[in-house]
Amino acid sequence: MNADILNLLRDPAGVPFYPVVFQGLYILTWALHALFVFLSIGSLGLSLYGTYKQKDDETWKIITPHLLQTGKLSVSLLIVLGVAPLLFTQVIYDPNWYTINTLSGLWVVIFIYTLLVGYSMYYWYYYANKKGSSSSKLIGVISFCLLVFAGLLMHVFSVQAIQPEKWMQWYAPNGTVDTSGLTFNPETIRFLFLMSLSIPAVGLFLQNYSDFLKSTKKFSESFLTKTREIGTKIAISGFVISFILFITWSFQINKLADIYSILIIVFTLLMIVLSNKMKNSYLTSLLFIVFLLVISGFREYLRFNIMNNFGYNIYEYPLNIEWASISMFVLTFLSLGGVGVTFIATMAWKVGKSNGYFDASKDKTVTLMANSLLWILSTWCIVYFAWGFYILFKNSL
Ligand code: HEM
Repeated sequence: MNADILNLLRDPAGVPFYPVVFQGLYILTWALHALFVFLSIGSLGLSLYGTYKQKDDETWKIITPHLLQTGKLSVSLLIVLGVAPLLFTQVIYDPNWYTINTLSGLWVVIFIYTLLVGYSMYYWYYYANKKGSSSSKLIGVISFCLLVFAGLLMHVFSVQAIQPEKWMQWYAPNGTVDTSGLTFNPETIRFLFLMSLSIPAVGLFLQNYSDFLKSTKKFSESFLTKTREIGTKIAISGFVISFILFITWSFQINKLADIYSILIIVFTLLMIVLSNKMKNSYLTSLLFIVFLLVISGFREYLRFNIMNNFGYNIYEYPLNIEWASISMFVLTFLSLGGVGVTFIATMAWKVGKSNGYFDASKDKTVTLMANSLLWILSTWCIVYFAWGFYILFKNSL
């Protein structure tokens, strides 16, 4: 495989906007995908421990179903937020992404079913735990393993995509074409490092959970203090594990002395201190999101350098600016996405903070947002279809 072939594999239509913008959006959206990957795996993992403890421990009896609920919602968010980086990858690194989807085609299909069965079993686990069924633990463990396996597959696609020098060898080992679609070459330490971030994610979540509920009168002071302590312990030990794994990984790929790796190492140490000392846990969580952005940037930094050294430079991708689709994207993102997410988040916040029944129709802010969203959605639908039909008829008539 050489750079000429890679460049030929690019979309002849070019990219609709400057590649650097897609690269930035990739970094941002992958960090958000990762946030919910770590929160779901962390909550699900910890809830499994909770199922053993909840019988004779009051704290775990309360936390376990809440962790289960958090993980369940996070899986749906990680799926939605996974689509965005997938699209951006396909725009600027399409030769890489599609080659891997061919070499590991069967794994790609297996990924879909793993996710489908893993997530369905999560719901089973959720209801079984609610009913107090003894089989819930086993179902939960299977669901956990399937979701982690889905992550392993995503990891395999990611790391294989940045090794174009090995593609021919995987495609035709010893000169014989392998059409099985079963190419599978993980980079164990990288995967372990990434997945280890699930531990601090759930630790910080428990700190937030405790701080959030403090202002309500739903739970006792001692329960909230104990939950925060558990969260702090988990967050600190998780960051220590991630720290060791990151050093091992960066050493393995010969990047330990790289300025970017040093930044991550220092940031991890800072997170260890902050998760122990910081009173305001929302701030620590905000910094954790920044931390994930840095990790996401590091992944892209590695990929960009590898591909650039290979002769494939995304900044040289043929450009064919399409103002119409760009404006539609930005307007949708800001109006529908912005107002929609703010509406749901505001409502969820207020429901959690209220002591008892929350009547959204009596809340001025929530009602205003709900009405605005309806108007925006209706207008969006009209513009979307009118524009679509206009382009369709303009091109075909
Ligand atoms: C439980 C399910 C999932 C888990 C645990 C998971 C986990 C991960 C992990 C750990 C990575 C980083 C791999 C690496 O850099 O070595 C990753 C990358 C990624 N994931 Fe997921 N993921 C899941 C589902 C999804 C879904 C459903 C989508 C899309 C709809 C998705 C889209 C992506 C994308 C686009 C990347 C980056 C690929 C690249 O450009 O290198 N993931 N995922």
